[in-house]
Amino acid sequence: MRVLVVGSGGREHSLCWKLKQSPLLTKLYCAPGNAGIAAEAERVPIGVEDIAALVEFAKAQAIDLVVVGPEAPLTMGLADRLREAGVKAFGPSAAAAVLEGSKGFMKDLAAQMGIPTAWYRRFSSAKAALAFVRDQGAPMVVKADGLAAGKGVVIAHTVDEALAAIEAMMVKREFGTAGAEIVIEEFLSGEEASFFALVDGTTALPLVAAQDHKAVGDGDTGPNTGGMGAYSPAPIVTPAMESQIMRRIILPAVRGMAEAGRPFTGVLFAGLMIDKNGPKLLEFNVRFGDPECQVLMARLDSDLLPILAAAAEGRLDSVAVTWRPDAALVVVMAARGYPGPYAKGSEIRGLDKAAAVKGVTVFHAGTEATNGTLTAQGGRVLGITARAPTVARAQALAYQAVDAIDWPDGFCRRDIGWRALGDSPKPGRGAE
Ligand code: AMP
Ligand code: GLY
Repeated sequence: MRVLVVGSGGREHSLCWKLKQSPLLTKLYCAPGNAGIAAEAERVPIGVEDIAALVEFAKAQAIDLVVVGPEAPLTMGLADRLREAGVKAFGPSAAAAVLEGSKGFMKDLAAQMGIPTAWYRRFSSAKAALAFVRDQGAPMVVKADGLAAGKGVVIAHTVDEALAAIEAMMVKREFGTAGAEIVIEEFLSGEEASFFALVDGTTALPLVAAQDHKAVGDGDTGPNTGGMGAYSPAPIVTPAMESQIMRRIILPAVRGMAEAGRPFTGVLFAGLMIDKNGPKLLEFNVRFGDPECQVLMARLDSDLLPILAAAAEGRLDSVAVTWRPDAALVVVMAARGYPGPYAKGSEIRGLDKAAAVKGVTVFHAGTEATNGTLTAQGGRVLGITARAPTVARAQALAYQAVDAIDWPDGFCRRDIGWRALGDSPKPGRGAE
């Protein structure tokens, strides 16, 4: 099979790394990829939002399967345009990607299907939202309806914080049209986990759970990021919890989307808050998590390619997925300053030493190579991923590899995995 992966992050590197091992693969392309992906795939200089050029390339190169990494091209209709051109795609249509693209849509679907989630109200008028907040009182969560690069969620501990969030989103339009409408919802507490299932329109095949670390600093302090590290399995997602998640959240969503004439194909990523009453849905994403994908790929035993092809072709009922008994853990190294402003172009050395640590694979996110020099070109730059019999051992190996990397302008959290290891969180050191 000739395969094109769309994206340039650590998620796409891990997908390419796993696809490359498939005996069914004859050619792997990645658009636009990064310096690390170049070791697995031929890079194609087309941006992820250049839908017309991606479709043209897939047709011209007789691509058998396009695997779409990020949400933006999905909400823009890349999977639809590919299917219209006769090219198979792993990823939802724009009509189904709205599950991630509109938080209000997701909440309405949950309400219709009886999926457990925080109570909510949708607002398209700032005046009504401000009045609701004054009446309701804190805490509560204010969310921009549309895609806001992970920044459109404000946990408001006071009424003033909620009012300021509404001002920023709806009046100042800090997230552009994504904030034209907002969702205000109940603040939930508990433990968060990410759960993944493959879906082919009607059948859902559970994958496994992972836990992410969203805050930039040790001890879960500082501003939120796209994710500073992850591990799998997640101890809180026991087999009994997994079957609850499938029965109460994933399967009703898949049925609801099909009934709404928006059948979902691809990977459904449920962000969950779990407490003694069971799992509640925080959000759906319509793609693999980043960096969660890196630990999923490290643990996956099955050949990924026929599984993704089966999802794209509506044949998921005919495949099984097997996992290694091992755990996996990824530590993200980011450019100093991230998630705020950061410099590009600093040199990274020592990746060969890191990759030589047994069980470790270094996935690239924001890197470029020129004349043999590897430089950082993004916020999250590397994902140091280790597989080992236990999370504790994977953590030790990942940090051994991190310490072999010579990159003075990079930093990472030193406590990835603390929840699974029963540690108390390390005192916050922010992004130092
Ligand atoms: P989201 O982009 O919707 O995943 O939200 C980002 C983060 O905000 C989540 O990972 C949670 O940590 C937090 N969050 C979102 N919604 C809620 C909620 N209703 N209650 C508590 N925390 C939330
Ligand atoms: N790591 C969280 C996400 O990919 O949305």
